[in-house]
Amino acid sequence: MKLGFFGIGLCLIPLAAAAAPVATPYANNNGALPPSSQYTGPLFKLSHAYPAKVAAPAMPWRDAIQHGRITVQNASAYAEALKAAVGKDMPTLLFDYAHWDAAARGWYNEPWLGSANGKYGGREAIHGMYVGTDELDASLFAASGLTKPISTYVLTYYDKVAAQTLNHVWSASAGMKPSVTSTSTQFAEGSLIVKAAFVTAGPDVWPVMAGTQVWPLYITTNATTGGSTLPKVTNTYLMQFDIIVKDSQSAPDTGWVFMTLVYDQNVKPGPNGIWDQMVVLGAQWGNDPQANSTVNPAAPLLQNWNNPAAPAYGGATFGWGNRLSGPNDGAMNDIAYKDGVKQQLVKNAQDSSCMSCHSTAQWNPKTNTMPSFLLPATSNPPQIASKQYIVSPPPGSPDWLRWFQNRKGNVPMDAGSIAADFDMVLAFKSLPLWYTATTGKTHALTGFDLRGKRMPPRAGK
Ligand code: HEC
Repeated sequence: MKLGFFGIGLCLIPLAAAAAPVATPYANNNGALPPSSQYTGPLFKLSHAYPAKVAAPAMPWRDAIQHGRITVQNASAYAEALKAAVGKDMPTLLFDYAHWDAAARGWYNEPWLGSANGKYGGREAIHGMYVGTDELDASLFAASGLTKPISTYVLTYYDKVAAQTLNHVWSASAGMKPSVTSTSTQFAEGSLIVKAAFVTAGPDVWPVMAGTQVWPLYITTNATTGGSTLPKVTNTYLMQFDIIVKDSQSAPDTGWVFMTLVYDQNVKPGPNGIWDQMVVLGAQWGNDPQANSTVNPAAPLLQNWNNPAAPAYGGATFGWGNRLSGPNDGAMNDIAYKDGVKQQLVKNAQDSSCMSCHSTAQWNPKTNTMPSFLLPATSNPPQIASKQYIVSPPPGSPDWLRWFQNRKGNVPMDAGSIAADFDMVLAFKSLPLWYTATTGKTHALTGFDLRGKRMPPRAGK
């Protein structure tokens, strides 16, 4: 069965229009505040005084590889330098929330994610998190003992160098009329962006989460418990922490290095507590277009390093040919494709990676769309075959390889679009949400999570 996308869209519009509060660019949250009987701590404050001009930063990660190129051999040293570079601020955010002041420390958030996608979508009030992936099937992590499906919640911060780009896109119009040009969307060298991912599965349903940081969130969507009609304060568990950096010197093919940390209960906490238990899962600085991992699964990856010492659950969802991707990122998906005339359905196929997915970040300002979906798909929004399988080009085919090319961040995947320099929040979240809020027309991408799954109808909508 094909999902009647526009049919569903049309029947939602009148309801959403009647119920949804007026969206504003810099809302702190979706409007649902936890009662003091459930929570009395600090609430999330959106940091949006984006700086206009910042001096070029020191880049100790370049020193870590002697100002050469990042390679499979030195990627570990580079990744540790990146972790150290954010390590003076992030433990405060993660473990000492009462003392976290993002603006004072020079970290910033994107606009338009406050109230999104129905009454209780968007940022929840306590930590400003929103649904990243919903839901991750328990079968993906069966080997590490997961017994229930998961929802993941995410939160992204741009450092002050990166936030200059938010300034260029949003500040002149106070968020109302984004400037999306081939220059405004580009990030300065040394820009750092981080993203924390917490999961709804605690140690009772996923033993690998034992001992990790717990954040209470005020939420309804929860695949682990089945969710609730009204938001309630619910524990979530720190699983993954991404760090990406604009560094054209070390990674000239794409201009970026992507890396991620995952929680490992078997590492001893050190002076920085749980931060010391966040282990590098790997680093990626290109898509390895020369390696057709379907035709030749043994083809070596030259722009990717996976840490053999990372906990096994972290690598359970590596992408195509084991290109880097974390457990939050959904690089394994149920896909349907035609093999000659035969229809194939593959569950949990490796079909993406950090840089494959992010290299699709682009926006066509004439049509207000991101022309290709973020996963290999025959259309955007993706066509959905039976049982929620995404209709995909055949793995390894020329069409499929469009998602595994190396492009610099100012070269769009599709002609006519403005490349968004790998920034997925801009292309997949902020711009579609801005469009929906300011035109009254629900943008086709706002209802999807990053795996092409329809977000469930929000409770209370
Ligand atoms: C299947 C697609 C997909 C994969 C794979 C993926 N991401 Fe993302 N990423 C997204 C989307 C979509 C967003 C926007 C926010 C959101 O919805 O979570 C995002 C946001 C981010 C951000 C915030 C800045 C930005 O670009 O918007 C960072 C940092 C990030 N991802 C890092 C990573 C890293 C590191 C990996 C691999 C370990 C990874 N991502 C894998 C889709 C993906």
